[in-house]
Amino acid sequence: MRSTLTLLSAAALAAILPATLRAADPAPTATPAATAPLVDKAMLGLFQPLPEVMGTPERVTEARIDLGRMLFHDPRLSANQKISCNSCHTLAQHGVDNEPTSPGHKGQRGARNSPTVLNAAGHFVQFWDGRAADVEAQAKGPVLNPVEMALPDAQHVETVLRSIPGYAPLFAKAFPNEQEPVTFDNAAVAIGAFERTLVTPSRFDEFLAGEQKALTPEEQKGLVVFVQTGCPTCHAGPYLGGQMYQKAGLVKPWPSQKDQGRYEVTKADADRMMFKVPGLRNVAKTGPYFHDGSVADLKPAIRMMAAHQLGRDLSDADVDAIAAFLAATTADLPKSMVAAPALPPSGPDTPKPEAG
Ligand code: HEC
Ligand code: HEC
Repeated sequence: MRSTLTLLSAAALAAILPATLRAADPAPTATPAATAPLVDKAMLGLFQPLPEVMGTPERVTEARIDLGRMLFHDPRLSANQKISCNSCHTLAQHGVDNEPTSPGHKGQRGARNSPTVLNAAGHFVQFWDGRAADVEAQAKGPVLNPVEMALPDAQHVETVLRSIPGYAPLFAKAFPNEQEPVTFDNAAVAIGAFERTLVTPSRFDEFLAGEQKALTPEEQKGLVVFVQTGCPTCHAGPYLGGQMYQKAGLVKPWPSQKDQGRYEVTKADADRMMFKVPGLRNVAKTGPYFHDGSVADLKPAIRMMAAHQLGRDLSDADVDAIAAFLAATTADLPKSMVAAPALPPSGPDTPKPEAG
């Protein structure tokens, strides 16, 4: 589903902000008196709680989720049979590998940081440059990418899947009434269905639902500073991002211009340095940061955002408060989400792993 949201202008944002905060603008350090509730309804309206599942029940069936979970964890979808989706998007590590860029086939590294798969299915497009429309379209990319899982072509993926006897009944159940359900396309649909369940509610959602005590005073102050500074111009909605492209270095040029983002896809000058605004849920756990993984820690990343996107120089106290607020979106991940499933054994015709 495409979001029609456009960039909120500073004026539009100011209109949403409560009067007390508007009065404080442009001095972002001024915070309301400690006795008054720090965060009011208008401010909360910038965000929404997470959906239970990021997709329709027709698309996300139990049978597809179960199959998709297995495929997500199955290294036989890679040439050396050592790399699965979970290698770079380790669910137990909040959907990332905590590497600046990820080692794939034969240890080769791509140019970009692995974003988290948690809550990603709800974004308006996939990849830093938006080149896949949704998680189903996205899932086919890494399997055939020579520096990721490196299988040669769709035909080979189907040869592998059909050689594993245990997969046939699972595909049949997930895609009933299809004559040949074991296809690369269906594998991607099943992986997508699984990813659409990777929703991670946190204390922030309890707070949005009206539970004042769900966030500490420091975290609430951080939310106020986050809003006052203007971060929700880009990082709003249920995912605190994932709703639009924006220029890295909107106000002050981004330090590295090597990867031009969406321009690499469209070759349109207007798309230079445009990236999908990432979601910020679980962000305290998903470093290193930015499309190239160039910043190791969250606090310097926050400081850079304020400077390059908003022309603001944040005090240490404000950076600390925003970091505390963002950390309150870190979810405790249920075992049912992160546990690796048992995989069906290989058959006699399953291709042998390639060296590397
Ligand atoms: C070798 C590491 C590696 C493997 C293996 C891998 N990915 Fe990724 N993934 C990445 C990188 C790097 C990106 C970002 C690339 C870009 O934006 O150009 C990415 C992006 C994504 C995204 C987009 C998230 C967003 O917020 O835009 C999703 C979803 C995803 N991968 C799912 C998968 C699935 C499903 C598999 C298995 C079929 C998989 N990945 C295998 C490294 C990997
Ligand atoms: C004008 C839009 C815009 C504004 C305003 C903005 N951001 Fe961002 N943010 C982005 C974009 C685009 C990226 C991706 C940049 C890249 O990777 O090169 C990003 C990335 C981030 C990241 C890294 C996430 C990751 O997974 O790597 C963090 C953290 C972040 N922003 C926090 C903030 C904070 C805090 C503020 C307010 C001080 C803020 N942003 C304001 C657009 C914006």
